[in-house]
Amino acid sequence: MPHDPVAAVTHADPYPFYAALRAGPPLVWNETLRLWVASRAEVIESLLLAHGALRVRPAAEPVPRAIAGSAAGEVFGHLVRMNDGTAHQAHRPALQRALAGLDLGAVRAAALRVAHDVPTQPVSDALFSLPVRTVAHLLGFGDEALPRVDMWMRDFVACLSPLSTPDQLQDASAAAGELMTRFEELAAGAPPRSGTLLAAVLAESEAGAPLSRSLLANLVGLLSQTCDATAGLLGNSLIAVMREPSLQQGAQTRDGLQAIVEETARHDPSVHNTRRFVAEPITLAGTPLAAGDAVLLVLAAANRDPAFNSEPERFSLVRARRRMLGFGHGMHACPGQALACTLAAAGLEAVLHRALDLAAMRARGWHYRPSVAARIPVFH
Ligand code: HEM
Repeated sequence: MPHDPVAAVTHADPYPFYAALRAGPPLVWNETLRLWVASRAEVIESLLLAHGALRVRPAAEPVPRAIAGSAAGEVFGHLVRMNDGTAHQAHRPALQRALAGLDLGAVRAAALRVAHDVPTQPVSDALFSLPVRTVAHLLGFGDEALPRVDMWMRDFVACLSPLSTPDQLQDASAAAGELMTRFEELAAGAPPRSGTLLAAVLAESEAGAPLSRSLLANLVGLLSQTCDATAGLLGNSLIAVMREPSLQQGAQTRDGLQAIVEETARHDPSVHNTRRFVAEPITLAGTPLAAGDAVLLVLAAANRDPAFNSEPERFSLVRARRRMLGFGHGMHACPGQALACTLAAAGLEAVLHRALDLAAMRARGWHYRPSVAARIPVFH
């Protein structure tokens, strides 16, 4: 058993621990982590809907201290994901509409094409490169820029973790500066290539040149939101196929691949938890929360709540109603869910076509990258 719900994220099998959490009180105080923990689906949904009282960042620290004042801190501070302020709300509808307008068939075709230039080995790196380079391509970057954008993005997301080292924080800031400049150039040069995700965001936000720093940061944010979460979804889908070789049959068709990825997103998701910070006193699930309290919402536990999904422990490609909270809920819900599942399904298709010896990979095993929220495998 993992010793706490943060350690559970990278544990080999955290699900019995999550079941024990769900069987306990709706909100339980964890003295070691110094936060409240919620694990039942109904409670997490109500927490995610308590927008006024609960915020995505602590009031006293809108940007993590470790990156405040740096280029990485600037990007972080503008992200709609990381702030509940009115200035941030302004970008949300444009991002949502642009992502909703994507042609997912074209996304799949682009992902398979981009996959040709992504090195096969190590697979653990391809998990990141496939989705990140595809989204960079969809945004409008040329083929020659994709490896560099991929590298900067990997450096940038490292700063989003409290586990980052000083060297990683420095690299993250350099990468954030580069990415802002590249997006500025992409948007300012010739009018963005029509049909790109960048053109769609600009049209939806009616933005004129030069673009505001906050919109530029949220374009970088589309890549950073893709990076770890989609790598994890792709990696965990590959593990599902390794564990259950009969799924290889399903993986022969586009619908089958999609179903494997969607069930993985429920059963063994990449984002295991998110946090909320109490801005004003509120009672939720019968528990009074004080201003300044932090709450850990264990989304991965909610997905296996029997009150949310029937036979939740079973990996089942066909479900009458598949429900999940791994993409959030309410105002901050992920607008990239359909894109992410399409990217992971195309990534799985590309990886499986490379004649990997899945039985040997399974025998060699894997562990999970150090993280407090994301479950991303590293294959041995
Ligand atoms: C498997 C992949 C993904 C997972 C599991 C995931 C999960 C999430 C979750 C849980 C949230 C809400 C966090 C919270 O409320 O605390 C979120 C927000 C967000 N996601 Fe995703 N995401 C994924 C991929 C993507 C992709 C591909 C994009 C876009 C290219 C994207 C864009 C966003 C944005 C912009 C937000 C902020 C929404 C807001 O605050 O208004 N995500 N995502």
